[in-house]
Parts: sequence; structure tokens; C-alpha cells
Amino acid sequence: SERTLVLVKPDGVERGLVGEVIGRIERKGLKLVALELREVGEELAKQHYAEHDGKPFFGSLLEFITSGKVLAAVVEGPRAISAFRQLAGGTDPVDKAAPGSIRGDFGLEVQFNLVHGSDSPESAEREIKLWFPEV
Ligand code: GTP
Ligand code: MG
Repeated sequence: SERTLVLVKPDGVERGLVGEVIGRIERKGLKLVALELREVGEELAKQHYAEHDGKPFFGSLLEFITSGKVLAAVVEGPRAISAFRQLAGGTDPVDKAAPGSIRGDFGLEVQFNLVHGSDSPESAEREIKLWFPEV
């Protein structure tokens, strides 16, 4: 079994899609290990998205992710990292995410793509420590 960090980003929380996302995670058979609605400060945002530091969209990404409450969750199950990335769909909600995925069903713009999921075991370990040091 494997763990991954999932976020419902400020656009998803603002649009009332928390239940939709949690429902899809549960129906897939993945388990919730930790769950918290929280404000994201500049420092946490920078550390979370450190791999994108220096890219042209880094500033607007930080502004976006700190713009409202985020639902953070640790999700567990067999191949949880890939399983959630599949539920989420590709990064661009129109060009990459298939209909039937969270981003494909509810998103339109690459920045406002509703959810985050860790992209590798190394990322998952780093991100879970960052968001839920006690878990
Ligand atoms: P995350 O799960 O949020 O990490 O998304 P991802 O792994 O599918 O994509 P990636 O890590 O490459 O990018 C992180 C986030 O930056 C994306 O989810 C988008 O919100 C945003 N982003 C990525 N590429 C672009 C871009 O070209 N323009 C803008 N404005 N935002 C982008
Ligand atoms: Mg990513």
C-alpha cells in the first residue's frame, strides 16, 4: 500500500467541489488517512511547489494557491499515487484531462485545475511531511 498527498485547490473549495473530489476518492476504494481544510501561507506554498521555482507561472501559481482555503488530505491504497493522478486527469483540463476525470469534468484553465496529487513516491514522502508532519 502507498500514500499520496491530495489537495483540493482554492478554486475547487470555492466552487463547492470538495464533496465531489472526496466522493471520487472514496468510490475508487482509496482511504483517507488525514484531512484538513486550511489556509496556505507563502512559505508552505513555496516549499510545496519548489520544483517550479523560476518558471514563468511560478508567481501566479503561488498567488493562486494562497488565495483561499485548501483541502489537504493524505490518501492511502494500492498504487495510490497513480490511482489519484488518474482520477485527477492531466494538468491541462481541456487538452490533457479526459472527460470523466476531475479536471476533465470540472476544469477549463491550466492554472485553475482544481486538485493536486503527488507525482512520485519521493514527492509523496516530501509533501506528506510538509503538510502533515504528525502523520
Ligand atoms: P499539481 O498536482 O498541482 O502538481 O499539477 P501537475 O503535477 O499536474 O502539474 P505540474 O506539477 O506540472 O504544475 C503544477 C501546477 O502549476 C499545475 O497544477 C497548474 O496549477 C500550474 N501550472 C502548470 N503549468 C502551467 C502553465 O503553463 N501556466 C500556468 N498558469 N499554470 C501552470
Ligand atoms: Mg505536479
